[in-house]
Amino acid sequence: MTLPAVRARLYRGTPRNLARLAAALQRGELVAVPTETVYGLAANALDARACRRIFRAKGRPASDPLIVHIHAPGDLARIAESNPAALKLARKFWPGPLTLVLPKKSVIPAIVSARRPSVAVRLPSHPLFRRLLKISGVPLAAPSANAFGYVSPTTAAHVQAGLGRRIRHILDGGPCAIGLESTIVDLRDPRKPRLLRPGAITRAQLERVLGCRVPVAAAARQSSRGAQLAPGLLKRHYSPRTPVVLHSRIKIQEVLADRQQREGWLFIARPATRVGRADRPSLPSIPSKGRNIFWLDDRGDLRGAARKLFSQLRALDIRGFRKIHVELAAGTGLADAINDRLRRAAARG
Ligand code: TXA
Ligand code: MG
Repeated sequence: MTLPAVRARLYRGTPRNLARLAAALQRGELVAVPTETVYGLAANALDARACRRIFRAKGRPASDPLIVHIHAPGDLARIAESNPAALKLARKFWPGPLTLVLPKKSVIPAIVSARRPSVAVRLPSHPLFRRLLKISGVPLAAPSANAFGYVSPTTAAHVQAGLGRRIRHILDGGPCAIGLESTIVDLRDPRKPRLLRPGAITRAQLERVLGCRVPVAAAARQSSRGAQLAPGLLKRHYSPRTPVVLHSRIKIQEVLADRQQREGWLFIARPATRVGRADRPSLPSIPSKGRNIFWLDDRGDLRGAARKLFSQLRALDIRGFRKIHVELAAGTGLADAINDRLRRAAARG
């Protein structure tokens, strides 16, 4: 592919810019868009040629299907076979970070669904993306706007850095409010919902609304080389170039042993007990800052930590550390989603 000599243009979300970008989408061009989860690389989901450009720009294998974004709940029936369980979740969590996998209808080209008979659908809440969906008048297929396998982008600058020479248009909607990709639920069989990817909408929330268990799909745990039941849910994904080493609990002694500070130490959310070690005052605690010590959040706020996770991994990746050590988030819910991304970032091969 010959790359355009110019860098992608960043657009602010003015009415005039949105109209121009909608026109570009209608012509089959790609537009990077802000969403509440991560930035997406959008194309008209009904146009197979336009969607093929997404795969080319990202270097994404054709076996990895795309999520289709819609503007209104009523658009769902046009592209997928819905069911009562799906409607319950849609009513509760849309617009928002929830993707439903349902049997697809024939308007969705085979390339979008990687030739499978299902399609993943999401109704996003980001106001600029919603306006663009409305003006362009078509559903928009959009995977995360990163080169395949790298950390997902949560700012327009991340998109520019990764795909700036491969695409022409980036709609800048500021930093993403959630910072982790959507929760994906397989609802092809409404009696057997399965969690394909954890996200900001937690398993407990899904189970409360559906009134049944939502087990984690076995396919979501498999390795990258295994048969691909849930395509794209590769173990190695979201990976910085620097090796990532996970710890359930990092001890201060380990950090201090890295005297030359050649490794980075990343902590998720600093709970109050960890600041003062009120429980065991004789133990020194992990410092709140340092040349090689980083906390995503220092008030114990997992949402704040999730929002900063990908940008912090990117920032650490260019610091030249030999390794990035990360302490996994404690707890469940959003912690599951954060830890899922960390495990993928740490997986090699
Ligand atoms: O938050 C998000 O979901 C973001 C924003 C842009 O909406 N999108 C996103 O897309 O994370 P992507 O392509 O990076 O991840 C989508 C994943 C695919 O890798 C695949 O695993 C799953 O969704 N998927 C898509 N269609 C599917 C299908 N028919 N069956 C099972 N899984 C599917
Ligand atoms: Mg992705």
